[in-house]
Amino acid sequence: MKIILISFFLGVIFLSSCDYNNEKDLYPSQLANCDTTNVTFNGTIIYILATNCFSCHDHQYADLFGDAVHLESYADVKSRLGKLSNAINHTGGVSSMPKNAAKLKACDLKKFEVWIRNDTPEE
Ligand code: HEC
Repeated sequence: MKIILISFFLGVIFLSSCDYNNEKDLYPSQLANCDTTNVTFNGTIIYILATNCFSCHDHQYADLFGDAVHLESYADVKSRLGKLSNAINHTGGVSSMPKNAAKLKACDLKKFEVWIRNDTPEE
């Protein structure tokens, strides 16, 4: 009987410890601390691209990979905005990016969304 009671309580503790651990619960808090004021290409977007995309999409490597998708300059990115947005949001029509990796962080996706909504300011 004791063993059953103990395992029951351990079970309850184990299950309740998972409560705040799933993505659904973490997602809003990630966005709550997400600063989307003043999102610009040179101040924000370029850093997200550098961290997550340049390994395959700067001029040096893009040609080696054979994809020839350059994302280093404002003009490069502007000319691919529609595809880029579908690629990072995994909304179809193009390969999901970053290729073979997890989606960008919720906050980074939000910054892209705000940047595009504000007409893609450069500075
Ligand atoms: C590991 C390498 C790799 C990384 C990292 C990567 N890409 Fe790609 N990307 C590719 C390859 C290779 C292609 C060519 C299409 C394919 O093979 O899926 C591509 C294609 C694209 C395309 C063109 C899609 C089309 O169908 O025209 C866009 C836009 C793109 N990537 C954006 C991004 C963005 C934005 C990031 C960062 C968030 C990123 N990529 C990260 C390898 C990568």
